[in-house]
Amino acid sequence: MNSYRLQKFKDSMYLCGFMASGKSTLGKALAEKLEREYRDLDEVIVEREGKSIRAIFDEHGEHYFREKEWEYLLDLTRNFKGVVSLGGGALQNQRIVDHLKVNGLLLFVDTPLEQITDRVLQSNERPILFNKDGKIKSRDTLFTELKALYSGREKFYKQAQVAIKTPLFSSVEEMTEAAIEKITRHV
Ligand code: S3P
Repeated sequence: MNSYRLQKFKDSMYLCGFMASGKSTLGKALAEKLEREYRDLDEVIVEREGKSIRAIFDEHGEHYFREKEWEYLLDLTRNFKGVVSLGGGALQNQRIVDHLKVNGLLLFVDTPLEQITDRVLQSNERPILFNKDGKIKSRDTLFTELKALYSGREKFYKQAQVAIKTPLFSSVEEMTEAAIEKITRHV
């Protein structure tokens, strides 16, 4: 199933896409199938900062989180070869997009915003879910905010060399196979 060229491809693959789009699930499955090592940038940040993402946002603010996110991502691009899932806001500017594309293959996990909104509501962990007073936002408010955020970010996601649509109800196995097929055309 895996082409010879794909087996020979030893650069990193970076999964970008909006929050809760399934980057980590797909990234892990891809790494396993391709027998590559795997890292989740959010997990690296949590480990190295010694606190949850929500606590980092609450205690230090988003600007600090974004600085750390870029610092640890840069470190991964220099010292790690494998599959990396990024946080939804990791593509902060054009320089980062260019850096990732020069250092590996950028994949965009493209998931409908309705599905993303449901997942953000279910998981209880992403800072955008909460108002300043700590209360959970309504679905309508959350959807409107996510949509605005997405429209500012999609220009970066869309520059990925490979886009993988994640249809409703598709299994991880099916998504992984579809991703491998698309990646194979690019390596
Ligand atoms: C964020 C996405 C999150 C995490 C943080 C901020 C964002 O990662 O980095 O909550 O701004 O889109 P996921 O994309 O893994 O949810």
